[in-house]
This record gives sequence, C-alpha cells and structure tokens, in this order.
Amino acid sequence: MSNDGFPKGFQWGAATAAYQIEGAAREDGKGESIWDRFCRVPGAIQNGDTGDVACDHYHRWRDDVENMRDLGLNAYRFSVSWPRVIPSGSGKVNTRGLAFYESLVDALLKERIEPVVTLYHWDLPQALQDKGGWTNHDTAYRFADYAEKVFLKLGDRVKTWVTLNEPQVSAFAGYADGVHAPGIKDLGQAVQASHILIVAHALAVQVYREASPARHRIGVTLDLHAIYPWTEGASDAEAARAADGRVNRWFLDPVFRGAYPKDVLALLEGGRVAPRIEAKDLALLSANPVDFLGLNYYFPHRVLASDADPVLHYEYAVHKDREKTEMGWEVYPEGLYDLLLRLKQDYGNPSILITENGAAYADANVVKGQVQDDDRISYIRSHLEQAVRAIKDGVKLEGYFLWTLMDNFEWSFGFSRKFGITSLDRHTLGRTWKKSASWYQNVVATNGAQL
Ligand code: FCB
Repeated sequence: MSNDGFPKGFQWGAATAAYQIEGAAREDGKGESIWDRFCRVPGAIQNGDTGDVACDHYHRWRDDVENMRDLGLNAYRFSVSWPRVIPSGSGKVNTRGLAFYESLVDALLKERIEPVVTLYHWDLPQALQDKGGWTNHDTAYRFADYAEKVFLKLGDRVKTWVTLNEPQVSAFAGYADGVHAPGIKDLGQAVQASHILIVAHALAVQVYREASPARHRIGVTLDLHAIYPWTEGASDAEAARAADGRVNRWFLDPVFRGAYPKDVLALLEGGRVAPRIEAKDLALLSANPVDFLGLNYYFPHRVLASDADPVLHYEYAVHKDREKTEMGWEVYPEGLYDLLLRLKQDYGNPSILITENGAAYADANVVKGQVQDDDRISYIRSHLEQAVRAIKDGVKLEGYFLWTLMDNFEWSFGFSRKFGITSLDRHTLGRTWKKSASWYQNVVATNGAQL
C-alpha cells in the first residue's frame, strides 16, 4: 500500500524494557527487583526462564544502537531500571547504574535517534515490595524521588518521558491475577495498587516540571483495549461498559480529568474493593496534566455479562475462527482506529504516541538462517494502515514504536514468545534481522509511504 499520510517529523521507533533485555541482574551494584525475585518462584515462568542474562543488552548496547542506526530509526523507547539506579528503592544513588543510561542516551543522540525514556516498566526494587510495594502510599513518593534523580541526570538531553508503562497490568496482573511480579492474588490490593501507581505518575509529572533542567514533554503509557459487547443484548452492553470502565476509563479519567469514573467506583465499592484515596491525591492529579498519551495496543476485548466476576460482572469471550497471534490475541487492527478516534472525542484530542504495537509469532519459516515473518509484517502493516486512517481523521498521532527491537524475555512466558524484528540466538546472543526488520527499514525510510 502507498500513502502520504504520516506527518513530517513522525517518530519511527522500536520499544524495549529494561528487565526484558538488559540482563546483568547483579552487576555494578544493581539491586534486586520484584522480577528477579518472582522468576525464582517455581512454576511462575515458563521453562524456568529468568531475565538474569536476557539479551545481555547491558554489555551489548553498542551493537543494539548500531542495529537501530542500520534500521534507520529516528527514535527509541527504553526503560530505566529503578533498582539499577537506586538499589534499595530509596536513598543512595548507584552512580554506575545511572552512568549506563547516560552512555546509552549519548550514543543514541550521536546517531540522531531520539531517546524516549520510560521510568517504570514493572521492575520495582524488591526492598520496596517488602514494605507493601504499590499498595503503600510511600512507594509513590519514593518513585518521585527516583524520577527526580533521573531527570536531573538526563533531563537536559531526553525530551520525551514516560512515567509508567501500563499501570493497569502492574496492578491487576501483579496483584489480582498473580501472574506477574509480585504474584499476589487479591483484587482489593490490585485496586489500591492502581491508585498508588496513578498518584506516583502525577507526582513524577510534578517533579519533572519543577526539577528537570529542561522542560519538554512527559506522559504516561496506558495499555488500552478496544472493547466490544459479545452480542447486541443490553446485558452485554452493560458488561462492556463495566469492562471499559475497569480497563480503560479507570486510568484515562484520572490522567485526563483528575477523577475516577463514578460507575466503576460504585462497582468497586459494592464489592468492597474501592481504593483508599487521600484528598491530596486527587488534587495532585488535576494539577499535573500530561503532554501526551502513550498508547500500547495489541488486541481487542470481546465482553459478555457474567457473574463469574462477582464485582464487575463480565468476562471475556474469544472468537474461535478469527486470526490470532502466538499469544492467542485476536488480530483486529480496526480496534486501534476505534481507540484513537475515541481518545480524540472523549479525552480532548491529545497528542498520542503509539508506544507499543506488535505481534508474537513462532519462527515457522526460516530460509538461510533468516526468519521469514510475513505474519508479523502483515500484523504491523495492517495496524499502520489504521493509524494513517486515524491521522486523516484528525487524531494527533506523532509516533509509532514497534514492539520490539529483538526477541527478549516475555515475562511469565519466558523466552517462548517472540515479538522481535531481530532474532536473538540464545546461545551466542547474536542478533540477526528477520524479514520484518528489512521491511520496517523501508517503512521508516519512506516515512510510512510504502507499507
Ligand atoms: C506489553 C508490555 C511489554 C511486552 C508486550 C508484549 O504489555 O508492556 O513489556 O510484554 O506487552
């Protein structure tokens, strides 16, 4: 497909996260994170994998910057590991940890690749988890202190900041479903954690505006889902509204409107799992608006009414016959368009970066050592087509960060799910382009005119 829809200056990047690629779990003074701990829980991670070595990016980052230069990327989203910078979560800074990110930022800028820095992509210092983690109000203040240290060091060079990656997943996968660190199964704690995360976000925005040596833009990355009722019946419509409330509006509303959605609060209160909100928390939210929204989109949710969930009264359903990725996630690019338009209509047409989008597929077709991942190309292409459509319809979309630069540690799935456009040889740790890498290189070179 050919189009001229991507604006000049559009950011074309790839995204990664510290724990998924860095390795060097105990080097140069890094502290233990909740993922270091969780990976030791028997059965928590497929095949007993860990992020101890991951892609060894901590040592091979120069190769990875060269890889990005060769791809022609003009932006790169990565995360800073909090326990690498402040090993016990509060107090003394580990200068070697911070120096690592400084070298990375400088090398990227030298190649004209804009760093987009996420401050928290799920690797909380274990020492803070020992004090309650994200259910403890104090963690939000520790986060703001840590953020300040990073702003002071890199704020003169990094222009785009993301406070948190997917607080919805941190809270609910980590504290309700127990499938992510810290592995807790308690809905009340999850809801409380979601609130403290939102407070942490607002505090970091405030600190950025007060403390950073230069002031550019700061936002938060939310994992939003396009949500559709399973049938046209009224009860499924209501269930879809509840699901949308808990998954999307529960985060969008405090970020953009400074208040939680009343219908969701009522459901949570009914289930006796509403968060404890201090008066100053809400004031913080409304006083600290974002400059942009980071959107992670992978798949839609189809929702039906169900008392299987006694608090929210919905469950997810899956179309058996629809195309799915290796994660079992339905491929539905129109969902991205629907979400983008909805953000424009309901949340004041914010500037948006797609901070993640991509797909896991098995290396089914390998020719002369190169993975022929036409499935991944088709997934990304179809989503970019929907992104262009949204831009034409007035959405202020300013960048696209493909997930992900290279195969890496996919949380509870270990290394069994591959999202990379670059293959990683788990033995030699060598990196090899898949077909999608060459394809994406051309997309970037033509500013998306050739998809
Ligand atoms: C997102 C995460 C990212 C990666 C992708 C597949 O939810 O932010 O780290 O795991 O999913």
